[in-house]
Amino acid sequence: MIDFTVIGGPSSEQLAKKIAFKLKSKFIGCELRVFPDGESKITLKGKPSGKILVVQSIYPPVDSNLLRCLAITSQARVFSSQVYVVIPYMGYARQDRQFLPGEITTMELVAKMFKAAGATKIIVVDIHSMIALEHFHIPVKNISAVEELARHFKKMSLNFPLVVSPDKGGVERARNFAEFLGVDYIALEKHRDRKTGNVAIKSKGLEGVRGRDIILVDDMISTGGSIVKAAEFLKKQKSGKVYACCTHSLLIGDAEKNIIRAGVTKIISANTIPGKTSIVDVSPLIAKAIT
Ligand code: R5P
Repeated sequence: MIDFTVIGGPSSEQLAKKIAFKLKSKFIGCELRVFPDGESKITLKGKPSGKILVVQSIYPPVDSNLLRCLAITSQARVFSSQVYVVIPYMGYARQDRQFLPGEITTMELVAKMFKAAGATKIIVVDIHSMIALEHFHIPVKNISAVEELARHFKKMSLNFPLVVSPDKGGVERARNFAEFLGVDYIALEKHRDRKTGNVAIKSKGLEGVRGRDIILVDDMISTGGSIVKAAEFLKKQKSGKVYACCTHSLLIGDAEKNIIRAGVTKIISANTIPGKTSIVDVSPLIAKAIT
């Protein structure tokens, strides 16, 4: 057994407790106070020892949760030369390259900040792109929750299910998901306007969707735009029930309402971001990845 202390950051306390339980290790929580000017003050509720695992997801408020994660990492380094930082949802991973002239690759800066804060290893779950990982100049590990998510669907009774990725970029994920279930998969053609962020499905009428239950699989649901357009398209093709499944459900604003209105029966996600759709537990995967 490795001597670990798990520090649960304010954004991931429940998940961190589960990881600590699985590792049979000490758990330390954090007290968070937000000053009227928006500054965060974090106090560790105990003294860590051994190797340290910091667990803090970087979902909204993204910049605050990022800085809190860096602050805890930096403090952890005072107690240990080995600080593993688990970032179940890595914010900024979509800003991994320059898409339009003048854009800043903020992921590169985030990676530098973790190294500077003293992280010795970074562990993420289903990061948006592998390019994002290349910006880290310390060891990084990406864990896939796809099998765990698919396992959830295995228990359900679905009619001739078809796994669908809303875009071509997610075809590998859809393939893995479908292979686990032993069913077919396809990827739609999605276009996103890089300036407005608006999404459109470019696929034309699809053979073989009619009457089949659909599992729409994506890495994340943010505004819900991608899932809404994909679900509307599939419903027009006279599909059966449509389920939306992702690792990270940010569900910003009216996303959930809009997705249900588009005909989605249920949203199922992992607990990298806490919420009512986050029913698939990734703590066993994380505990296994670090032992
Ligand atoms: C895009 O490439 C991602 O895989 C997701 O499809 C996207 O980020 C989801 O965002 P939204 O819910 O705002 O469409």
